[in-house]
Amino acid sequence: MIIAILNNKGGVGKTTTAVHLAYALTKKGKKVLCVDIDEQANLLLHIFPANDVYALESRQNGTSLPIMTHSSGVDVLPLSYWKNTKHFADTIRLHAKGYDYTLLDCPPSLEARTLAALEAATTVLIPTQPENLSYKGLIKLINLCEEYTLPVLGIFVTLYDKKKAAHNFYLPEIAQQFAGHYISAAIPNSALFPSASAMNKMGHEWAGKKANPGLIAYDDIADYIIKKSIQLSAKKGKV
Ligand SMILES: Nc1ncnc2c1ncn2[C@@H]1O[C@H](COP(=O)(O)OP(=O)(O)OP(=O)(O)O)[C@@H](O)[C@H]1O
Ligand SMILES: [Mg+2]
Repeated sequence: MIIAILNNKGGVGKTTTAVHLAYALTKKGKKVLCVDIDEQANLLLHIFPANDVYALESRQNGTSLPIMTHSSGVDVLPLSYWKNTKHFADTIRLHAKGYDYTLLDCPPSLEARTLAALEAATTVLIPTQPENLSYKGLIKLINLCEEYTLPVLGIFVTLYDKKKAAHNFYLPEIAQQFAGHYISAAIPNSALFPSASAMNKMGHEWAGKKANPGLIAYDDIADYIIKKSIQLSAKKGKV
């Protein structure tokens, strides 16, 4: 399963989702590859030391850089500094063969990098904030998936703040309008995520043994993905 984590709206938690789902799936015994497609190299900068990431830029040549392995067991294919977007889809597909799940961290626009991710993907996962403009953008994203004949794996809410009236209005609105795609595990707004990122860690490493609702929600989404992929492969087997 090659999952494009897609939303052209910026800052909705795409990178945070890629990192924490990768960890949750790895802990459940799955082999996971993350692909940093974004020129901002945010996924790389989240979990690897900044100097190691910046050094990649000077090592970038005509081919993709080798896979980097994080101490958690998650592998990362760094495409951030590679300009040759024409070869992204083939490169992703080739590497994905060795993994149960490949998570594509898309940039915040529908540029060539994102479109290459959609070309390589077998399904799309959409994180969204429960707010007006994010909500209004969802239909366009679903239409884009249809254009690429990609099934939507799920839509889920990120950065949910139960004290915000708008969040309490839009969360049920999203759940109702997109009932066929909606994943009920909403990721709460939690200081854990920016803090872990600042410390160059995944939230699980930062939280240690302390239970955190955000990490539990990512764990639930990982379970949802595993269940859904079993259903999809059973369907394929029947065809
Ligand atoms: N559930 C959350 N609670 C609190 N902060 C969060 C949460 N998820 C993400 N963040 C923080 O919000 C910021 C944006 O998150 P992130 O980089 O994952 O979004 P993005 O969609 O990948 O952004 P971009 O569109 O720039 O790629 C980061 O500082 C991140 O630490
Ligand atoms: Mg990002």
